[in-house]
Amino acid sequence: MKKVYLIGYMGCGKSAIGKRLSFATKMPYYDMDTEIVRMTGLTIPQIFEMYGEERFREMETEFLRTFRDEFCIIATGGGVAMRKENREIMRETGLVFFLNAPFRDIWRRISTDRNRPIVQRSTRSDLEQLFNNRKPQYLHGAHFKVETENRSLRDIVDYIA
Ligand code: S3P
Repeated sequence: MKKVYLIGYMGCGKSAIGKRLSFATKMPYYDMDTEIVRMTGLTIPQIFEMYGEERFREMETEFLRTFRDEFCIIATGGGVAMRKENREIMRETGLVFFLNAPFRDIWRRISTDRNRPIVQRSTRSDLEQLFNNRKPQYLHGAHFKVETENRSLRDIVDYIA
């Protein structure tokens, strides 16, 4: 059996969809950020502040390299698909779904969030530019693109399941 990876920008719905997909399929669900927080005993903002973003990116790759549960759903962090090695690991060990949401929906969900260091340090237009820059990598890394605009969570989950 393979893993199911959910990739896409911050606020595209990876966690919400992952949890419901887990309920629907009975596959265990893991959130990469939550696992990294558990392993380090630090919050994501603390990791960025104390060790820097690059070290956080290493932790993400380390997680993908070493995570052993074979049959599960993994909601990745929004930056995970930016590394070639990460994309390769995900494509080799599972099925990768890119959740494509329009930036205005994403902005609505992330603009007031305090737990995402990239949101904290960026303007709306920086975040929109980053979103546009990242999109080709998400598409490149995914086996399937899932449109989320104007669709209920249930509809999206049924489609993936
Ligand atoms: C990040 C996304 C976050 C988290 C970190 C960096 C990114 O995860 O990994 O704040 O670079 O896009 P979510 O996509 O779950 O918000």
